[in-house]
Amino acid sequence: MNIGILGSGKVGQKLGSGFIELGHRVKIGTRDPNQEKIKEWIKKSGDSASAGTFSQAAAYGQLIVVATSWNGTLEAIRMCDPKDLVDKNVIDVTNPLDFSSDGLPKLAVGYTDSTGEIIQRLLPEANVVKAFNTVGNPHMVHPEFPNGPPTMFICGNNDNAKKTVINEFLTKFGWESIDIGGIEGSRLLEPMAMLWITHYFQTNNVNHAFKLLRK
Ligand SMILES: NC(=O)c1ccc[n+]([C@@H]2O[C@H](COP(=O)([O-])OP(=O)(O)OC[C@H]3O[C@@H](n4cnc5c(N)ncnc54)[C@H](OP(=O)(O)O)[C@@H]3O)[C@@H](O)[C@H]2O)c1
Repeated sequence: MNIGILGSGKVGQKLGSGFIELGHRVKIGTRDPNQEKIKEWIKKSGDSASAGTFSQAAAYGQLIVVATSWNGTLEAIRMCDPKDLVDKNVIDVTNPLDFSSDGLPKLAVGYTDSTGEIIQRLLPEANVVKAFNTVGNPHMVHPEFPNGPPTMFICGNNDNAKKTVINEFLTKFGWESIDIGGIEGSRLLEPMAMLWITHYFQTNNVNHAFKLLRK
């Protein structure tokens, strides 16, 4: 399928390359499609990779990924034509990080709202699925850990959209997936990302991921 990714950072590039490996075509959306890092990504990714404005990526994608920094997320979505996002599955990878003070970032929206819900409210006719936000980008695609596949927790209001994200991407990348319910579950998944980030700040190491153990 054609996938439009809003965001040219490490996440956009990593997931974009992973989707291309699965046989999809990807257009990365950005304020400046001629940035050197994007040209390099296209060069190494081949004919299935392209870049355009946020609006062009939204129009291109049959499925959309939001992978912008929190302070640019609403602006990036507002640069898209709303009709290009109607009835589409939208994977929200964002975390609402506030880097305004020293040390660890803070959760910009607190604990009674979440970016997953904010994006769903902004795009009421899209099917927003929160996914991939609780791990660092190096392990988003083909996470390889000695104790087997880690767990990706996802949420969203539309069951078919969540099944698509699990069956078409997460399982194929090698994740175990757990659906925790409606998009309000983002209020759990975004603080969970803060836990991942806190451990990263403490260890200066990205090689960790969550796994649910059972007996
Ligand atoms: N990095 C990770 O390992 C990781 C893991 C899990 C979740 N996340 C979350 O995923 C998202 C993307 O992270 P990232 O590290 O790939 O990149 P990032 O540096 O957080 O974001 C880069 C993207 O944000 C856009 N952006 C920044 N300010 C903007 C503004 N004012 N208006 C419009 N767009 C703006 C940039 O646009 P341009 O292309 O125009 O520069 C770029 O496309 C973040 O929300 C992050 O918290 C990151």
